[in-house]
Amino acid sequence: MITIKDVFEDYRQLNNVYETQEIEAISLLVINHVTQLSKASIKAFPERELSNEQTEKLKSILIRLKTGEPVQYTLGTTEFYGLPFRVNPSVLIPRPETEELVEWILSAIGERRKVKDQRTKQFADSILDIGTGSGCIAISLKKNLPDAMVSAIDISESALQIATQNAELNTVDVNFIHADILNLQSTQNSELKTYNLIISNPPYVTLEDKKEMHSNVTDFEPHNALFVPEQDPLIFYKAIADFALINLIPGGLLFFEINENYGQETVDLLQNKDFSNIELRKDMSGRDRMVKAIVK
Ligand SMILES: C[S@@+](CC[C@H](N)C(=O)[O-])C[C@H]1O[C@@H](n2cnc3c(N)ncnc32)[C@H](O)[C@@H]1O
Repeated sequence: MITIKDVFEDYRQLNNVYETQEIEAISLLVINHVTQLSKASIKAFPERELSNEQTEKLKSILIRLKTGEPVQYTLGTTEFYGLPFRVNPSVLIPRPETEELVEWILSAIGERRKVKDQRTKQFADSILDIGTGSGCIAISLKKNLPDAMVSAIDISESALQIATQNAELNTVDVNFIHADILNLQSTQNSELKTYNLIISNPPYVTLEDKKEMHSNVTDFEPHNALFVPEQDPLIFYKAIADFALINLIPGGLLFFEINENYGQETVDLLQNKDFSNIELRKDMSGRDRMVKAIVK
């Protein structure tokens, strides 16, 4: 019989792909997922024996991890803003910096709603997330703002399937729309209405950035979620800003997650399009990562 300790040892084979500390964290996550034992109990009882079925699952996950496949895809699940999300290679794995964006959005809405005014009381009762992927932003906003109508667009039908499952998993209603934000003629106009808040974490990785990225991102995560043409890195930001000018109410908010190398360029773009109160924020790692702007 294989014990928990044996699994930790077996998973050291990942040393070609990960640092020691990461291997420890990944092993713990996988054992927790497969056995449903708490992390504390896994650590406290390393001599506990595992069933044959659990051992087989752990082995097959290890084979996938050795190829560099992200652990979240091998488990088919991850956590975002304290909520469970299904993931597969048709959606980007939600990132911690995007949780910071959600936090910022929720606190901005809270501030607006504090103002005693009929117009602001219900502020953000109509929200659109562009490029929703797993649905992580739209679903976590709806979970925290149950009175809001939340819609979400993606070009990828397979991503929308996962996002729909995630809305069910988290028992929220989100209106998912299949559309290409760069070519909106393809969308039935009736599906897109007026919003008072638009958010997007669009593709923003350039070929230059790709050189710096780990292969377990570039080899496994969907390219249409990541990459933009080298000659037009802000293509999505331009299209979404134009869309927001038409579809946001006056005073409505636009939030972007951005490429850390294009903080000032994104601010300039919004300034040139006549947005006001443009604010650039850094993420936990001190990188330019998010922008907020208001439609005049
Ligand atoms: C960086 S991912 C963000 C996913 C998710 N919102 C998140 O924060 O984890 C960008 C998403 O935009 C979608 N996308 C790419 N091109 C698009 C387009 N032209 N129109 C609409 N969505 C698009 C991709 O399918 C992908 O799901």
